[in-house]
Amino acid sequence: MSTSIQTPSSPVSRALTGAQVGIPPRHMNFRFPETAERYFAFNNNALASQLFVVFSGIFPPGERFFMESVRHFRERISDPVLRAEIAGFMGQEALHGREHDKLNDYFRARGLDPDLPDRFVRFGLRQLERFAPRLQLACTTAMEHWTAHLAEQWLTHTEFAATSDAEMLKLWYWHAVEELEHKSVAYDVFEQVGGTLAERRAAVAMLLVFMAPPILGSWLLLMAKDGQLGNWRENARGIKALFGRDGFLTAVFKSIPDYLKADFHPSQQQTMALEAEWKQRLFVEGGMLSAEFSNRQAVALAS
Ligand SMILES: [Fe+2]
Ligand SMILES: [Fe+2]
Repeated sequence: MSTSIQTPSSPVSRALTGAQVGIPPRHMNFRFPETAERYFAFNNNALASQLFVVFSGIFPPGERFFMESVRHFRERISDPVLRAEIAGFMGQEALHGREHDKLNDYFRARGLDPDLPDRFVRFGLRQLERFAPRLQLACTTAMEHWTAHLAEQWLTHTEFAATSDAEMLKLWYWHAVEELEHKSVAYDVFEQVGGTLAERRAAVAMLLVFMAPPILGSWLLLMAKDGQLGNWRENARGIKALFGRDGFLTAVFKSIPDYLKADFHPSQQQTMALEAEWKQRLFVEGGMLSAEFSNRQAVALAS
């Protein structure tokens, strides 16, 4: 409650929470009903839909890696606001993993295979874990940058909204808003513990070597398992939907060079208005997620 909030500088202040710094972990309870189309994830298209199976498969292990790489440095952070942001970030990522696990069960029940990208990416993450903790954190900052740009696409891409399953869209919308809310946290930790541009460059190289192959490889294998690799006409349609002029991934790829600028900061991605618009649509009483958002009152009281 607002009356119990004390300023961070107060010597008697209790630790701030994630909700008090605008990063509230929201508990969701998504249900995924049967849908008629096999490729319900995007555009009724195998290539595009299997990419979303890959995304959902890799989020739980990926987000665990993000959390661990930040947790390693948490005790070195003395700024109470950043400590609260870390708490909010940890809570949000943990809950994202939980709901993606449920979506992955749903994919499995429909004969799709999120376990394959999960296995491949866990192998890549184990290689990243051999590097120094600050390089692992740099990798997290790079992946959070791209995730934040993916999040913008989840919220704004009209073809995605028009062709994806309505229930699954709710999960992506919730995940996207929270990714934007916490997009600066890992990077602020990285800066506070002395992270450098050289480490960011190294992180991009590490991700190209250890993460791009399992992601692309598992996507291709899912297509092969599905007997869809030779379906040229459909695959051309999927490539256009993902990489064409207004393709779902086109803007995400364009954002990659930003991360390597010397003065990069995630807040340069201006998303405040987008976040405000979607929080209003999703989380208010009677909003799109009123049935799924199970701790709405607690979040409102804690904010
Ligand atoms: Fe997440
Ligand atoms: Fe994240």
